[in-house]
Amino acid sequence: LELKMNIEEIEKGGYDHFMLKEIYEQPRAILDTYRGRLRAAQGLIKMAGIDENLEKFMNANRIIIVACGTSWHAGLVAEYIFEDLARIPVEVEYASEFRYRNPVITDKDVLIAISQSGETADTLAAIKLAKEKGAYVFGVCNVVGSSIARESDSGAYTHAGPEIGVASTKAFTTQITVLTLIALKLAKEKGVFSQSRFHEFLTELENIPAKVEKVLESNALIEKIAEVYKDSTNCLYLGRGYNFPVALEGALKLKEISYIHAEGYPAAEMKHGPIALIDEQMPVFVIATKRGHYEKVVSNIQEIKSRKGKIIAIVTEGDTQVKELADHVIEVPETLESLTPLLTTIPLQLLSYHIAVMRNCNVDQPRNLAKSVTVE
Ligand code: AGP
Repeated sequence: LELKMNIEEIEKGGYDHFMLKEIYEQPRAILDTYRGRLRAAQGLIKMAGIDENLEKFMNANRIIIVACGTSWHAGLVAEYIFEDLARIPVEVEYASEFRYRNPVITDKDVLIAISQSGETADTLAAIKLAKEKGAYVFGVCNVVGSSIARESDSGAYTHAGPEIGVASTKAFTTQITVLTLIALKLAKEKGVFSQSRFHEFLTELENIPAKVEKVLESNALIEKIAEVYKDSTNCLYLGRGYNFPVALEGALKLKEISYIHAEGYPAAEMKHGPIALIDEQMPVFVIATKRGHYEKVVSNIQEIKSRKGKIIAIVTEGDTQVKELADHVIEVPETLESLTPLLTTIPLQLLSYHIAVMRNCNVDQPRNLAKSVTVE
């Protein structure tokens, strides 16, 4: 047992938990995921899985994304990216719902399956159903040679390295990285993007690892905020646009490792009911970065404040307006709107991690959870 303990300590690389190590590996994991694919200097993206099947994507009526859990949240981010940048219709489905609802699938559909483990039973079943109906299946997996990778017609691996913590972190940000590369490549091939706009995106994507490093420097501040809210029983997460899926992901992280109930909402949905929940006991985590409906999010924050809700806001560096309203702010560097999820997710990962540690939860193996749900 002594030896096993030592091996595990070595594998944690000096971090207290695998999850923390994997949160800090994200700058490297994102870089490894676009390395060899993103050639900003030459202004091109090379992805064999796409290049060799480009007509499938170019002629697709729509893209159906199937996944579960955090991977489903990555799919939601991809929906915003593909539709906004590549102008391709996208629908995102929970694999478990998709496989049983007798969906309409044709050979003009491209199905993208997202799965860190590549073994999730519902996602694998959804792929098989889609293939039976003639759809073209593209897999985005982190485990090489996994069942979903093998079942897919082609695909692209995330290069996150082994993700040991049950709560997915670096898999999520590298999934978004792969999906962003695909969307940018298709936008360029479809002529939606000028060369200069394409180049702007490629260059900014190369700036992301350093910007993630910058966000990680807020760890001590985030730990202090976690101390204040660690005994909450309910939390709300709000985001708009590209950051709506990030709000869902932040809520899932908190639920699965600290066992605190949390819900993610599109910020504007508050007035359709949930705002009735707001009182001094309800912390509200709001993603209020500069790009993307900023003024509207500020008014949502004001609505919450007037009901004495506690506000923890993720803002763009140098923000002053939200700073006046929120109880706490965590700054992230400015980036392109469609790339903000890669930065705004990080503070929510760290927040959940610290709250779970302070509550003496088993961070790497939360109760009732498995790393891969290979049964239905
Ligand atoms: C996320 O933190 C969870 N571990 C879980 O929701 C996970 O994302 C889901 O089970 C999907 O797993 P997969 O990516 O391996 O298919």
